[in-house]
Amino acid sequence: MKAEQSAIPDGDPIALFDAWFAEARDSEPNDSNAMALATATPDGAPSVRMVLLKGHGPEGFTFYTNAQSRKGGEIRANMRAALLFHWKSLRRQVRIEGPLEEVSAELADAYFRSRAFVSQVGSAASDQSRPLDERATYLKRVEELEEGCKANGEVPRPPWWTGFTLTPERIEFWLDRPNRLHDRRLFTREDGGWTSTLLYP
Ligand SMILES: Cc1cc2nc3c(=O)[nH]c(=O)nc-3n(C[C@H](O)[C@H](O)[C@H](O)COP(=O)(O)O)c2cc1C
Repeated sequence: MKAEQSAIPDGDPIALFDAWFAEARDSEPNDSNAMALATATPDGAPSVRMVLLKGHGPEGFTFYTNAQSRKGGEIRANMRAALLFHWKSLRRQVRIEGPLEEVSAELADAYFRSRAFVSQVGSAASDQSRPLDERATYLKRVEELEEGCKANGEVPRPPWWTGFTLTPERIEFWLDRPNRLHDRRLFTREDGGWTSTLLYP
């Protein structure tokens, strides 16, 4: 077998994420910013669901949600999470882990306002993760909120609708290679900088 270098460069993992994310935006059929968000209860019971990445950079990776949801309760009790992107069209995976911090009220307001009116209504009318007797109950709440807010063209952001930013401590890139001889590189944050190592696949 020919000797071969890793195709995942060492250096700045945030810049590498940007490059892979840009390629995913061009090649994924939809929601290239969709990521699995794993949270856990303080006693270690994990749960996972998809959310959308709505901002990222060296400061972290931000998503928005209902803080009274199941994930919101787990986050409040255990401010750590893991994110996972799987871009099928590229056969690539990125895993990101670290502590969470709630975004400022100003940032949450700005993002909530930037959403389409129907999306504002849909999330403000939802008691996310709590039992619903029948779908008609939710649709009635949507209709009432729509009616009440349509004159303003926007819905006030509910205080429990907010965002969280994950500050990355570990970022791992995984690349499909022929014959299942896949390529992995793990970046770990140390003293404000990044070090990296290859991992066996
Ligand atoms: C592609 C995709 C993107 C989603 N994006 C979000 C999101 O950004 N925020 C959110 O609260 N829920 C989002 N959801 C819904 C969540 O997966 C989940 O159903 C919801 O947040 C409740 O999760 P919980 O009960 O674990 O709190 C998305 C679902 C899918 C399939």
